[in-house]
Amino acid sequence: LIIVLDFGGQYNQLIARRVRECNVYCEVHPYTMELQKIKEMKPKGIIFTGGPNSVYAEESPRCSKEIFELGIPILGICYGFQVISYLLGGSVKTAPVSEYGKTEVEVDKNSVLFSDVSHKTICWMSHTDYVEKVPAGFQITAHTPVCPAAAMENEEKRLYAVQFHPEVMHTQEGMKMLSNFVYKVCCCKGDWRMDSFVETTISQIRDKVGTGKVLCALSGGVDSSVAAVLLAKAVGRQLTCVFVDHGLLRKNEGDEVEAVFGPQGLYNLNFIRVNAQERFYARLAGVEEPERKRKIIGEEFIRVFEEEAKKIGAVDFLVQGTIYPDVIESGLGKSAVIKSHHNVGGLPDYVDFKEIIEPLRLLFKDEVRRAGLELGIPEHLVYRQPFPGPGLGIRIIGAVSAQKVRIVQDADAIYREEIAKAGLDKELGQYFAALTNMRSVGVMGDERTYDYAVALRAVSTSDFMTAETAQIPWEVLGVVASRIVNEVKGVNRVLFDCTGKPPATIEFE
Ligand code: XMP
Repeated sequence: LIIVLDFGGQYNQLIARRVRECNVYCEVHPYTMELQKIKEMKPKGIIFTGGPNSVYAEESPRCSKEIFELGIPILGICYGFQVISYLLGGSVKTAPVSEYGKTEVEVDKNSVLFSDVSHKTICWMSHTDYVEKVPAGFQITAHTPVCPAAAMENEEKRLYAVQFHPEVMHTQEGMKMLSNFVYKVCCCKGDWRMDSFVETTISQIRDKVGTGKVLCALSGGVDSSVAAVLLAKAVGRQLTCVFVDHGLLRKNEGDEVEAVFGPQGLYNLNFIRVNAQERFYARLAGVEEPERKRKIIGEEFIRVFEEEAKKIGAVDFLVQGTIYPDVIESGLGKSAVIKSHHNVGGLPDYVDFKEIIEPLRLLFKDEVRRAGLELGIPEHLVYRQPFPGPGLGIRIIGAVSAQKVRIVQDADAIYREEIAKAGLDKELGQYFAALTNMRSVGVMGDERTYDYAVALRAVSTSDFMTAETAQIPWEVLGVVASRIVNEVKGVNRVLFDCTGKPPATIEFE
């Protein structure tokens, strides 16, 4: 185990993730964690993170000096570097100019932290304060033209510190440095795997829940599925999963979720499927404005969920499939609202529960997928592409109706089938069919038609904040278009959206 002590930096979970990539288990804790607790956890190493403060500011986060006497190796990063210097008697100064971005750093190759690292290596810097004089007993092991001490160490006490950020991708050999710390300094074996996470989490959940009752809103998406299965494995029938079918899911999706989680499925849990399609269609009838539609779907979802929860009565725990990027995003929240991104499955107000369990809070999406595979969740669920909470409600431009849902479901199913057949499904970030609100004139079998146009979208993206149009071969698009107009009643035209994000968004509404 490596403990990451959080001093308020932006990249704290990224550090933890990098350590886990070395197959070493890692947890992030606040810098205020008590020494006694640290000792009890017997970590093989501790990492101090960066942080926004200056060590001299009165309210700046500092830990107790005794941490250096525990005999546990420590690596300080950025602010963590300055805290170590400050606490051990070095001096930290504010530089006239900040050092920010990719910087060439010259490292001392004799330092174990830099073994196998190039003598001159590109690192990511982001600091204004710098260490002017390192504490007694420390040696400077790296510098840049403007930063005299870019790294220092006290080999005997196994204390190391770097001014730059080895955890970010821009530090080209950062992973090597972190693995040197983890393997060579802390002597970790690197035998932790996702199965250990699964095993530990299940046993922690069991301890926490005891004989309590647990309620989970299952959407069929990766995160809530993995969270539900972890709970099911831990506490079995003490868990009740409520799956609200709002009638805006992809074709057959409701049945697929039921097949996996329901009574004939793979897990021994209480599964309640609420078929609320008609209710949602009724509330959405005639509503055209996208944000209003999102709001209605979100509110109605919560209402349905609450009604089910009331039937179940008081529970002890409510499960949320929150993953780490959700934690960061909700922390920022300063940017303009483009779309309200109302996540169906958001926290209901009136469910009677005592505590929330978020078993995936520390994981990134790909880690959640690995955990899902470990838990034996079928691949088609684990690798499901992102699907918005409001579902097809925001892929039908304008008012929603049962007929339009049927059209977009059928068209989308054909599109997905052909994309998979062409072997393209794994390389695309997101791809789907949407129903435009446009009807146009066509001719089919010598008859005039006046039907809807379906739009196809395919994008590649790594973070869903920006996206590029993916190039789908014309032959594939041709097959999809012809199948859609032939097989889906009510459609006589198929369009391909070749706009990136920005200026468009990924979804249509
Ligand atoms: P946009 O359309 O904003 O989509 O470019 C970016 C990503 O977010 C998903 N998305 C949503 N997810 N509730 C969700 O849970 C929403 O209201 C919502 N709107 C968009 C979208 O599918 C894409 O992955």
